[in-house]
Amino acid sequence: MKSHDIVERNLPIFMVLTVVAISFGFLVEVVPHFFLKETTQPIKGLKPYTAMQLEGRDIYIREGCSVCHSQMIRPFRSETERYGHYSVAGESVYDHPFLWGSKRTGPDLARVGGRYSDDWHRAHLYNPRDVVPDSNMPAFPWLFDQALDGRYTAQKMRALRFVGVPYTDEDIEGAKEAVRGKKEIDALIEYLQHLGLLLKHKR
Ligand code: HEC
Repeated sequence: MKSHDIVERNLPIFMVLTVVAISFGFLVEVVPHFFLKETTQPIKGLKPYTAMQLEGRDIYIREGCSVCHSQMIRPFRSETERYGHYSVAGESVYDHPFLWGSKRTGPDLARVGGRYSDDWHRAHLYNPRDVVPDSNMPAFPWLFDQALDGRYTAQKMRALRFVGVPYTDEDIEGAKEAVRGKKEIDALIEYLQHLGLLLKHKR
C-alpha cells in the first residue's frame, strides 16, 4: 500500500490530518493579525472628527454618497497616480463604521480634502452639472436649507468613545454648541475637506 492509500482509506487519520492542515493555515494567515499593530494603531497626527466633521460624515452616510464613492485607494500605480498615497489601515481606526466601499460610480474620495475650494464643493453639491457639465451625480440642494440642532452630537461622541475613539470630556461638552444652527452643507464640506490630508502629499 502506498502511503496516501493509508490516508485515503482511513477516515479518522484523514480527518485528523485535514484538521492539522487547516490549523496550519489559520496559524499562518490569521494569528499574525492579532499582533499586527499597524491595523489597529492610528497613524501619526490622526485626530478624532470634530463635532462638525462628525455630523458631516453622518450626512455623507445618510445621503448615500458612499454608494457611488469609495474611500479606499488601492496600492497600484494607476490609483496612486490619480488619487495620491494608497490608503492605510491606521487612517480609519476612528471610523465606525468605515466607509471604504468598493462601488465607484464617481471617483474615490479618500484624499479629496483640499483638492477643491469650499466654494467649488458648494456649487458642485448644489448642482454638479454647474461645474462638471456631463456629471451624473445627483444634486443635494436641501443641504443648503437644513440646519443641525446638535441634539445627538454629544451622544454620538460618547458612543464612539466607548469603542475607543479618544474624545475628551471637553469635546463632548462643547459638541452641541459647535454644531447647533450650522447648515448641513457646511458640516458636509468640513468633513470632505479633511479627508485624507495626513498622507496627502506622499506618493
Ligand atoms: C449616483 C452616484 C453618485 C452619488 C450618490 C454621489 N456622487 Fe459624487 N460623484 C459622482 C460622479 C459620477 C462624479 C464625477 C463627476 C463630477 O465631478 O460631478 C462625482 C464627483 C464627486 C466629487 C468630486 C471628486 C473629484 O475628485 O473630482 C465629490 C467631492 C463628490 N462627488 C462628493 C459627493 C458627495 C459628498 C455625495 C453625497 C452627498 C456624492 N458625491 C454622491 C457620483 C455620485
